[in-house]
Amino acid sequence: MLVVVDHPLIKVHITVLRDHMTGTDEFRSRLTALTRLLAFPVLQDLDIVPMTVTTPLAQTTGYKLDKVPVLVPVLRAGLGMVEGFRDVVPNTVVSHLGMYRDHHTLKPIRYYSNFPTSYHDHPVILLDPMLATGGSAVDALDYLKQEGAQNIRVVSIISAPEGIKKVDECHPDVNVFTAQLDEGLNDLGYILPGLGDAGDRQFGTV
Ligand code: PRP
Ligand code: URA
Repeated sequence: MLVVVDHPLIKVHITVLRDHMTGTDEFRSRLTALTRLLAFPVLQDLDIVPMTVTTPLAQTTGYKLDKVPVLVPVLRAGLGMVEGFRDVVPNTVVSHLGMYRDHHTLKPIRYYSNFPTSYHDHPVILLDPMLATGGSAVDALDYLKQEGAQNIRVVSIISAPEGIKKVDECHPDVNVFTAQLDEGLNDLGYILPGLGDAGDRQFGTV
């Protein structure tokens, strides 16, 4: 299922991210602010369990997370979405997934992974700002399922219809949360109007 998260501040932050004049520091801080807003709907169904908490005056019922989520940022660009989630959820686990798109074939090349299999029954949040052809997201989901992950959701900032369709065809059980569904892809596989290369925009490697 696709969820396009709608919020006036999300629209404002995306406008700044799209602007080619926005520099790396502003890009990263806006990406974090926007991701923080996305975290709320993405995490809305987290399970909590009751516990007893003692206030200065009395004992009462409180809650704690049943299973802490595992954040899986896809390197490099997904790194910019980690802080926004960590601001909101205490004690998350962060499992990096190294992947890049071959510029000619547009196929994803996986070069690093470290998913902790002991967390296979925890909610897993795949973070990547750009969902273009969908090749990277599908390969990441293949990998996470192979490692035993059972409850995965994808979070992107900008998605192309082509990528959403591919993820839905290959992993119909996975919900995709995005801040913006754009028009489509250009001949080089970039999202239009998009924001350019999200990794380069964050790290200044344009
Ligand atoms: C970008 C982006 C995704 C992928 C999306 O990464 O962060 O991982 O492309 O494209 P797809 O949906 O067509 O697979 P990139 O290869 O530019 O690597 P980088 O993050 O290191 O810049
Ligand atoms: N990766 C990006 O960073 N941007 C795009 O538009 C497509 C893939």
